[in-house]
Amino acid sequence: MNFPNAPVVVVGLGQLGSVLSEGFLRAGYPVVPVLRRTRPEALSQITPEPALVLVTVGEDDLAPAVSRLPSAWRSKLGLVQNELLPDQWLTLQVTDPTVAIVWFEKKAGRPIHDVLPTVVSGPRADLVGEALDALGVPKRIAPEEELLEELVAKNLYILVLNLAGLEAEGVAGDLLAAHRPLFDALTGEVLELQRALVTSAARGSAARGSAAAQLDDDRLRATLERAIASDPAHGLAGRSAPRRLERNVDLARRLGLTLPTFERLAQRFLPSAGAVPTAGAVPTAGAVPTAGAVPFETPASPKRPT
Ligand SMILES: NC(=O)c1ccc[n+]([C@@H]2O[C@H](COP(=O)([O-])OP(=O)(O)OC[C@H]3O[C@@H](n4cnc5c(N)ncnc54)[C@H](OP(=O)(O)O)[C@@H]3O)[C@@H](O)[C@H]2O)c1
Repeated sequence: MNFPNAPVVVVGLGQLGSVLSEGFLRAGYPVVPVLRRTRPEALSQITPEPALVLVTVGEDDLAPAVSRLPSAWRSKLGLVQNELLPDQWLTLQVTDPTVAIVWFEKKAGRPIHDVLPTVVSGPRADLVGEALDALGVPKRIAPEEELLEELVAKNLYILVLNLAGLEAEGVAGDLLAAHRPLFDALTGEVLELQRALVTSAARGSAARGSAAAQLDDDRLRATLERAIASDPAHGLAGRSAPRRLERNVDLARRLGLTLPTFERLAQRFLPSAGAVPTAGAVPTAGAVPTAGAVPFETPASPKRPT
């Protein structure tokens, strides 16, 4: 039997994978699930031409999950992870993915909660857009030249809220008033790290300049404050916060950045923080591992915390 629409493969049926699967089904696309126990190579024999292969696993599982996918599927890849930057997919030999910068929250047992319109970019953005429309999620299809800044904007939001929440009581709206010094310090440090990651990953000085020029700090700060204002009751640190801190302290140290607030939080909340390699251990910016690659190199790293 032939379906009118090619199927969408969804890798990882957690919170986001499940709700987006529902969106594709409502939009009329069959969904083919890839679970941890699934053998993607075998599945690709019966699903050789999916419309999209959407990888909805967590940050630490991204590299191993993509590495298992057959090459025929890689050209159809879609990504949704927080903390995502282009170097992560380029390191995995993925050149032109569709990316959804998910600005809604989906927690177990709770409905979708929108913070800002979800931004989708890339060759299959319209298809992801159909699923979001079917779910009633506001969205914006963004041109490729806006993708980098949109990624960094979401990374800034998730990292500032999660890291601040390790130390500060309250909700997102409290950051702008009661916890302003912590908010300002973290915003500056996350922006410094994101900019360093983007430029160190670019090959050659022209590419570095062009990558850096795509990031406008004032616009990024404005988007952060707009997202907080749009959902001031948003919770701060979730279950992922300690692991986000660990990943990003590790990246900052490897890049040789001095980020005092990151370091203070690491001393307080990461018992093994002293064991992370220091800047001197990895002198070449081009060799800095991406966030997604870190778990391969630090096997002791935990799975996403619960
Ligand atoms: N949920 C949200 O509101 C939201 C919003 C924006 C962005 N995000 C981002 O979206 C990503 C997914 O978030 P989530 O909340 O959906 O996480 P989640 O509920 O933990 O779901 C991830 C799923 O991926 C599965 N998985 C891991 N490795 C796999 C593999 N190799 N093959 C197949 N399945 C695999 C996990 O299986 P196990 O259960 O066996 O571990 C789990 O079911 C994260 O990067 C998150 O930051 C989430």
